[in-house]
Amino acid sequence: MGRVTAIWAHRGACAYAPENTVPAFEVAVQMKADGVEIDVQRSADGHIVVIHDETINRTSNGVGRVVDLTLEELRRCDLTNGFAGRRNVKIPTLRDALDVFRPTSMTVNIELKNSVELYPGMEDEVLRIVQEMGMEDQVVYSSFNHFSLANLRGRVAKDNIALLISDGLYDPWLYADWFGAGAINPAYQALQQPNYVWLSDEKGIKVNPWTVNRDEDAIRLKNLGVDAIITDFPDRVGEAVRHPEY
Ligand code: G3P
Ligand code: MG
Repeated sequence: MGRVTAIWAHRGACAYAPENTVPAFEVAVQMKADGVEIDVQRSADGHIVVIHDETINRTSNGVGRVVDLTLEELRRCDLTNGFAGRRNVKIPTLRDALDVFRPTSMTVNIELKNSVELYPGMEDEVLRIVQEMGMEDQVVYSSFNHFSLANLRGRVAKDNIALLISDGLYDPWLYADWFGAGAINPAYQALQQPNYVWLSDEKGIKVNPWTVNRDEDAIRLKNLGVDAIITDFPDRVGEAVRHPEY
């Protein structure tokens, strides 16, 4: 296809620093990733925070559900999570994250984690923050909750809406075209139909698979013509897809 495959750092460059934290975002910038993917949820007092799980149990030294904890309570927890050389890592707000990326040209894929906890109205708050920071053109919104993404239609550019798909949806480019989304972000294992990327392309739909951590998978996907590869290892996977022999 001849186009350049972008590399997006998953949860920040989460192989190298605690996922979804400012240190991981800084590594992604240092590694010259073309973009970053971050997950957002909402605290008990209405702050948009960057965290993957609905609880803080796995990634911090605290326990509890994000939806039940205030920002201050969340900030009391440490997210160092065993990463050597890191200390006192706190949960970032969406603003903290965007502060890191605003001076760059990186795409920021904000994944709304609102499929388990629905966080009604969360899109409005996320959108408000992005607009206040003047980053509308830099941000792509994704979610497994397509009802939530539907709330963004007409308020953000079509190209900035990406439908997350985890498994075998058939002909998803037809759905994306009908839905009014500019991209499909599938689990890379879900790219089963041989013409997946070509047929998406015909509809003007980008394809950004995740989470691609093996070089051989990344090279195969690049050769299929995907637009961005979302990976925990933006340095190594980036090198693999840019290698002239592949
Ligand atoms: O947005 C791509 C990918 O992050 C979706 O899955 O569980 O890693 O957020 P997950
Ligand atoms: Mg995610």
